[in-house]
Amino acid sequence: MANKKILILNGPNLNMLGTRDPSIYGHQTLADIEDACRALGKELAMDCSFAQSNHEGELVTLIQQAAGNMDGIIFNAGAYTHTSIALYDALSHFEGLSVEVHISNVHAREEFRHKSMLSPVVTGVIAGFGADSYLAAMHALSGMMARQ
Ligand code: DQA
Repeated sequence: MANKKILILNGPNLNMLGTRDPSIYGHQTLADIEDACRALGKELAMDCSFAQSNHEGELVTLIQQAAGNMDGIIFNAGAYTHTSIALYDALSHFEGLSVEVHISNVHAREEFRHKSMLSPVVTGVIAGFGADSYLAAMHALSGMMARQ
């Protein structure tokens, strides 16, 4: 069977991982996380593509382009998680599986982080496992895709 194609998409400020609030987000850079995903992808027969943008409209475009081309999306929308109807609409049109991920446990933080605009339109949500949240999302997608 062909490898599954997965887009691992990161939103605003996630390009700053490594130096951004390490007590919350850890010391791994986005490049470190992408390397770990790439390595796990080999084990799980997944081809991972990566993108990061600080711009909401650019994230919308990337999700639109994934439609029809990708089997799954793993998406950390950063602060746009809590605000973006545009990303809600874009994800609603993605027909593959999708995982909302967060490095931190957003529910244990400020109240404004408790609400996600995106949770209603994704397959599932993983939060609070540090950089491993991305790897957990890959395992979750792999299991579900194998049962499809
Ligand atoms: C985050 C949590 C968001 O509330 C925050 O705005 C981020 C990162 C996380 O990965 O824990 O930028 O999505």
